[in-house]
Amino acid sequence: MDATSPVTADQLVARTTFADPYPIYHALRDRSPVHYLSIPASTATGTTVPVWAWGLLKYDDVYRALRDHDTFSSEDPRAGQFGPKIVLIQDDPPRHTRLRRLVNKAFTPKRIEALEPWMTDVANSLLDEIGRGATDIVAAYTVPLPVKVIARLLGIPGEDYATFKRWSDAFLSTVSSQMHERLQNVQEMVSYFGQMATARRAQGAEDLITALVEADIDGERLQDWEILGFCILLLIAGNETTTNLLGNMLNVLLDRPLLWQQLREDRSLVEAVIEETLRYESPVQRLFRTATRDVEIGAAKIAKGDRVTIFYGAANRDPAAFPHPDEFRLDRDLRTHVAFGTGIHYCLGAPLARAEARITLNAFLDRFPALSRAAAPAVRQTASPIVLGFSQLPVVLNPQ
Ligand code: HEM
Repeated sequence: MDATSPVTADQLVARTTFADPYPIYHALRDRSPVHYLSIPASTATGTTVPVWAWGLLKYDDVYRALRDHDTFSSEDPRAGQFGPKIVLIQDDPPRHTRLRRLVNKAFTPKRIEALEPWMTDVANSLLDEIGRGATDIVAAYTVPLPVKVIARLLGIPGEDYATFKRWSDAFLSTVSSQMHERLQNVQEMVSYFGQMATARRAQGAEDLITALVEADIDGERLQDWEILGFCILLLIAGNETTTNLLGNMLNVLLDRPLLWQQLREDRSLVEAVIEETLRYESPVQRLFRTATRDVEIGAAKIAKGDRVTIFYGAANRDPAAFPHPDEFRLDRDLRTHVAFGTGIHYCLGAPLARAEARITLNAFLDRFPALSRAAAPAVRQTASPIVLGFSQLPVVLNPQ
């Protein structure tokens, strides 16, 4: 950022901001809520009407909006325009309450805990495959681990893993030239999960789809399209987010060799490193709401129907909530960050993401006396404003 030019709210949608959002957040926070052009009209993306939004950048405002789901609705007026509607995360009560209860029943901590030994094996076999020397840890580790975990949770057979990854990539792609391919992949995925739900209804297995098919609260069950919507949500919500948490954490540690040594000697610090990474480099930077009534936040008069962007990553760097927010410190109150949101939409996968991070960090610490960067540059992703992370993170790994 050029220090002499004034920062404008429109910079929130600049690609350079996606890679390094903090200078913009800090410059705009005092003016928050800021009004900005969130999605410009574009024939390429099919958005005919530009979308303006209020950006919330202060911790207190973000917290308040997340807690007040009556005023800040998660329903997306444009949902369904680019593929199947995403359930749960874009639902309000009472539908959200019903779905969350059914899904909570299927997505239990016990189910996650039972997966831990297997996740540890996957982590170790990925590291065995890498061996020693320079490698891009994103391609070799932080992408495959979460994809394999979600596939296994859902009960997708190992041999279908590559197809699953292709669907996941296609669904997340916003490149307009690939829209046809995307649609084809989505159709394939819809029919696959539809067949799986039918098969699990006929004969259950030890997997999440069976749990979803069987979930029953007072005679209420999930319908097929809800099961499908939930599978798609897991693809989106569970993969890239966790990939970015793992990459961001390793990147932080690449810059802090002393902390690496400390961690090798004292594993009780592992949890603090994960929580501080979630705050300091939040994998989910922004998500959206719609105001259901006129409401004032600070000096802003937000009108009924206005779009509101929640900047989780800006809240987590707010000096009013976290003194010296740009310092990575383990002596903070580590659970006040909002990296997983708060309120009724609090991340369902938080225990799973934390488990994957813990298993990863311990597996790396067990093997590598030090972590260092390879000659090739680390590359931040700039394709999506929603997530913060690396598309490439070359490291040198030398097992002891
Ligand atoms: C580090 C990794 C992750 C981060 C940072 C993250 C972040 C978030 C955030 C911020 C929300 C709140 C959305 C809102 O306020 O509207 C959320 C919701 C959600 N997350 Fe995650 N997530 C992560 C991993 C996962 C994983 C691994 C899964 C599943 C396997 C998952 C499943 C979900 C679901 C289903 C919701 C919607 C909950 C609801 O609407 O009631 N997430 N996540």
